[in-house]
Amino acid sequence: MRGQVRISGAKNATLPMLAAALLTGEECALVDAPRLRDTAVMEAILTSLGVAVHSETDGEGRRVLVARAGSLEAWHVPERLVGEMRSSIFIMGPLLGRLRRARISYPGGCAIGPRPIDMHLRGLTQLGAVIRERGGYIEAETPGLVGAEIHLDFPSVGATENLMMAAVLARGTTVIHNTAKEPEIVDLQNFLNKLGARIRGGGTDAIRVDGVASLGGGEHTVIPDRIEAGTYLAAVGAARGEARLENVIPEHLDAVLSKFGEAGLQIHREADALSVQCGRRLEATDFKTLPYPGYPTDLQPQATVLACTARGISMITDTIFPSRFTQVQELRRMGADIRLEGRTAVVTGVRRLSGATVSASDLRSGAALVLAGLAAEGTTVVEGIHHVDRGYEEIESKLAALGAVIQRLE
Ligand code: UD1
Repeated sequence: MRGQVRISGAKNATLPMLAAALLTGEECALVDAPRLRDTAVMEAILTSLGVAVHSETDGEGRRVLVARAGSLEAWHVPERLVGEMRSSIFIMGPLLGRLRRARISYPGGCAIGPRPIDMHLRGLTQLGAVIRERGGYIEAETPGLVGAEIHLDFPSVGATENLMMAAVLARGTTVIHNTAKEPEIVDLQNFLNKLGARIRGGGTDAIRVDGVASLGGGEHTVIPDRIEAGTYLAAVGAARGEARLENVIPEHLDAVLSKFGEAGLQIHREADALSVQCGRRLEATDFKTLPYPGYPTDLQPQATVLACTARGISMITDTIFPSRFTQVQELRRMGADIRLEGRTAVVTGVRRLSGATVSASDLRSGAALVLAGLAAEGTTVVEGIHHVDRGYEEIESKLAALGAVIQRLE
């Protein structure tokens, strides 16, 4: 591989920010919002609630997603849209804050294992929501949210964001303890503060929100997608060669750069870019996913692919989603030697993978299979590529720009 790609705005920052647009009647503009299936679903959710959403292009060719929730016409999200994307739970906090009621169908499990929402619901209850679960629906209402002290059992990214958004319009002060520290949370805090919220502590393990009566509008540039960047670094590791990734905040990838460096990738940091080189067989490396600033679970399947052809045995442990190993069975079909032991994949590196028809069943394992296809001898067909479209903007053109021979089959 050889070439240059631009990393898109972060999916996981854009999704809660779109939900946050429900908190204000004024216009919110998100610069560099990526064009993805997941963001399209969130746009459709907003539209179904009566929000006016449209896209523009700025002087630098970046997409600007504009949402205005002037008056909201509904307070329940169509079941079809909730089924498409688990992150639809994000609208609960903002709708409760703005309209004092919300209803969504229960976002069920997904291919990467059970993903409960108990912390979201417990926190909203502590803020004064009355929540009823019936007939597969979650209905919540409140006479008005009131600030509270909330302790999360685990630093959940989504629960931290949902509760932050709910607390913005609550009366009084909310302190959320044991919060997740992901960069997307800091970005959400920065965006909300631009609209007039008073939030401090994003990026630490406690967040304080002083409630305000209302929010205004504002414009915000979304941070670059650290998971997309990590995926392209792994692509160079899988296929060998060199690449330059533009629009990156290298500090967001500290753990990733350290582990990929240990595996043998040569990575050079610039202020807002990364250059990566890989000219030889990688070394086996152990990976353990942890909440940020640890190694991210969203780059676990890609690490498995690097381990498949590395020299030696790698242990890859996912502590966040212990059953997130749907890529393993497919990688075995390509000749990988992988044994699953509970939440750990034990990968014995083989010299080469061979092309096969494999099937993606979720977003990140789908991306991992595309990388495996780059590493393999012969042709690989990855079915179920719509999972990959949930979170990667134009993956085939970006990989083609790096020299991959890749095409989308209709
Ligand atoms: C977010 C990311 C996702 C990433 C994940 C972990 C978005 C849109 N998605 O998902 O890409 O893989 O963080 O970094 O930002 N849990 C509970 N109860 C809850 C909530 C979570 O038990 O109420 C558990 C989950 O099952 C999981 C762990 O907490 O084991 C972490 O999940 P969480 O951080 O909430 O992930 P998401 O916000 O869903």
